[in-house]
Amino acid sequence: DHRDLHSFPTRRSSDLMKVLITGGTGFIGSHTVVSLQEQGFEVVIVDNLSNSDSAVLNRIAKITGKESYFYCEDICNRDALKNIFSEHQDIVAVIHFAAFKAVGESVEQPLKYYHNNITGLVSLLEEMKSARIPNIIFSSSATVYGQPENLPATEDSPVLPATSPYGNTKQINEQILRDFLLVNQDLKGISLRYFNPIGAHPGGLIGELPIGTPNNLMPFITQTAIGKHAELKVFGNDYNTPDGTAIRDYIHVVDLAEAHVVAMNALLNNSLKENYSVFNLGTGNGFSVLEVIQSFEKTTGVKLPYRIVERRPGDVEQIYASTKLANEVLGWKAKYSLDDMTLSAWNWEKRLSEQHFSYDDKV
Ligand code: NAD
Ligand code: WQD
Repeated sequence: DHRDLHSFPTRRSSDLMKVLITGGTGFIGSHTVVSLQEQGFEVVIVDNLSNSDSAVLNRIAKITGKESYFYCEDICNRDALKNIFSEHQDIVAVIHFAAFKAVGESVEQPLKYYHNNITGLVSLLEEMKSARIPNIIFSSSATVYGQPENLPATEDSPVLPATSPYGNTKQINEQILRDFLLVNQDLKGISLRYFNPIGAHPGGLIGELPIGTPNNLMPFITQTAIGKHAELKVFGNDYNTPDGTAIRDYIHVVDLAEAHVVAMNALLNNSLKENYSVFNLGTGNGFSVLEVIQSFEKTTGVKLPYRIVERRPGDVEQIYASTKLANEVLGWKAKYSLDDMTLSAWNWEKRLSEQHFSYDDKV
């Protein structure tokens, strides 16, 4: 049963397109499933729940009124992938979120990261190729730029040597995709380099679910404000920035999710020049740590206890995205402000504390 790859991309608006989302119960994956379902896609999720909760599935269904197919499987398990692709022969594309993402842990346990993040992509590509699935979108990261010499960072900015095994897996995965697509010109792929995704769906039903103490700024802020930590440590105020604290390009996870739908449509409509492309996903605006704290305090009315401490090793001073390519080629632009991000993150934290994910919420 060999499908003709070239008959794939013509898309009628009445078609219900089915896509496979790896890591679909995770933070960015769950928001993307919502956007895809809202845009009329059918979604198959594969996630081994190593960093997420199956209760997310019902939450997604509450938001969109649509169910997803769900497989609790490890993407390194090729037989499991084979089975999913044979049960859903009408899958037209894959969005690949499944990976481990804790930078510090990757330094402590490099093989855990190399195994999951590299083997995961390789096994996925092998099974996509044999099931003749022609499109893939990969979750890359602005971490590939390190500290760029010139700002904003464009897609042509040099990829600098990674400072952690996690960051290295993103660089290697981009290379794997590029090499694979070079010799498989009938297949197409996009790497999306996310800047700093924060915030949550405005209804407070889904959001980030950090396991253990969060390393990232936004969940640490909301957990401190709700009383789980005594104070936020601000890592350094002696950077060469206006207020001395480090600058990042924070992007609302709902904007990020919508960018995946736009990128998916670009693949399905065959509208990109090359069969492999890379896009930055950010707002184009840099904000300092103190500006994020100020936004949080202003939108929520909650005073945040914080203290300036030493710089965190490995942190870059400042980075923000050039969004020109995504704006012009994909026609996508972020809509939400920093205030929307900090407020939605807070609403999610409050919902989490009132209404824990519970077992009867699970499917
Ligand atoms: P997340 O941990 O919330 O989601 C990842 C999901 O993948 C989790 O649900 C986890 O259970 C699942 N998973 C991990 N390994 C798996 C495996 N072998 N098989 C099946 N499922 C597996 O993380 P996220 O923040 O949603 O990130 C999604 C992707 O985006 C990751 O690839 C991450 O590296 C990338 N990314 C994230 C950020 C960020 O700041 N959140 C920034 C840049 C890139
Ligand atoms: C943001 C700013 C900190 C915590 C990391 C990964 C990157 C990407 C996104 C996946 C920095 C400061 C933080 C705290 C603080 N992930 N901070 N106190 O480091 O830009 O990026 O997540 O790809 O690869 O490296 O994000 O949220 O950790 O930090 O002062 O308790 O907040 O120093 O300036 P980062 P972050």
